[in-house]
Amino acid sequence: DPPLPLDLVIFGGAGDLALRKLIPALYMAHLHGRLPAEARIVGVGRQPWTTADYAAFVAERARPFIPDNALDAAAWSGFLARLDFATVDATRPESFTALRACCARTAVRVYYLATAPGLFAPICAELSAQGLINADARVVLEKPLGQDLESARAINDEVARHFAERQIYRIDHYLGKETVQNLMVLRFGNAIFEPLWRGPNIRSVQITVAESVGVGSRAGFYDQTGALRDMVQNHLLQLMCIVAMEPPLSLDPDDVRDEKLKVLRSLQPLTQADILRDTVRGQYAAGHAEGQAAPGYREEDGVPAESQTETFVALKAHVRNPRWAHVPFFLRTGKRMPHRRSQIIIEFAQPPFSVFAEQPDAQPNRLVITLQPEESIQLQMMVKEPGSGMRMQRVDLGLDLQSTSRRRRAEAYERLLMDVVHGRLTHFMRRDELEAAWRWIDPIQRGWQASNQPARPYPAGSWGPAASSALMAREGLAWFEET
Ligand code: BG6
Repeated sequence: DPPLPLDLVIFGGAGDLALRKLIPALYMAHLHGRLPAEARIVGVGRQPWTTADYAAFVAERARPFIPDNALDAAAWSGFLARLDFATVDATRPESFTALRACCARTAVRVYYLATAPGLFAPICAELSAQGLINADARVVLEKPLGQDLESARAINDEVARHFAERQIYRIDHYLGKETVQNLMVLRFGNAIFEPLWRGPNIRSVQITVAESVGVGSRAGFYDQTGALRDMVQNHLLQLMCIVAMEPPLSLDPDDVRDEKLKVLRSLQPLTQADILRDTVRGQYAAGHAEGQAAPGYREEDGVPAESQTETFVALKAHVRNPRWAHVPFFLRTGKRMPHRRSQIIIEFAQPPFSVFAEQPDAQPNRLVITLQPEESIQLQMMVKEPGSGMRMQRVDLGLDLQSTSRRRRAEAYERLLMDVVHGRLTHFMRRDELEAAWRWIDPIQRGWQASNQPARPYPAGSWGPAASSALMAREGLAWFEET
């Protein structure tokens, strides 16, 4: 356990992420006795607030994000009593004295930077100038970590002047999801998959992260970012790393991250011709989503009427190593899709030779791993259709992961925050990993700009532009869209 007392200092303490994710996650940890008794949560922001003001703000604004069945009056007031607030304007160094006064006790300090990435460097520099970084201090960096390789490097360089790499927690909340962590157990804790987990036994891999929501109230951020940088650079590539990596030597952070890095470094760079052929940029137009009429992206509040920002990406990638030679990886993500659904589909090759007569219904085996909203694993296989003759039919072996244990399944942010508290780095990104991901993404972003082609419209509530299905069809494949 970490030495006590512990301060969790949240820059952007009154911001959207803190209210929606961090405070609820910390409350759940508190409720279940996972937060050290003496841990304090210090919100940091520009507001001229007292601790009581902050507690009142949290009580009103964060509470709606806590599931009703987890609200317990005594636990909630105990949680609010852990809160503190420091008025700091990250652009005004002199204001950091308020934080020093607040954190005067000897403590392990976790600094969670839930702010715009432009503030990461000045905040770290000032924490250091104020003597607030000791050997036990940790810093958590929220995404987006930069806009491209160059800006990500600049941020990493600045942060590295004040924190050692072992103190830096680059968060990708997908790595905190139970099913994502379970993928490692599925692959390396079972003997039956790993021998087949390669080409040519595997014909293709699909990774879909579909959201039904639109841009919501985040137009200011999102329009500058787009789906490639918001989702593919981090969440989808991280999922791909876990699917594609070699078994790590151990679960030590660097052993796992070494293997993920190798996958990122093995990604075949896309040429301009590849970008034009193998990537699809879409933007949702008016349509129907979540049971009602939905406006197009350009009609959303705060989005410029001419915006070319993509809200959908589909692409084909190749991992150049012996395991994955000739196995295409198809990645797809979008807002305003028909459902919220994240899935990984491992499609196996057809049997090399069929002893059965022509069977139009024959389908390849597929392993369908659903990360959300439900958590399940399904193995699709062929069995004999009852009756005379040898006709085949598909059956699905399904496992509802939620039903496999009565233990509570924590949300990603809770799990990751507890990892930070306990100094566990395995599920966080190392600097070289993050930079390798940008190195692969940057040419795609630049290629799109150079091509000057508009984003392809798709109706809200659909699976994206037709070009996305065409991308698969060219290989004789199709996106898995069964519900
Ligand atoms: C965030 C993106 O990182 O992930 C959002 O910035 C996106 O645009 C979100 O909505 C999706 O996360 P989840 O956990 O709801 O799948």
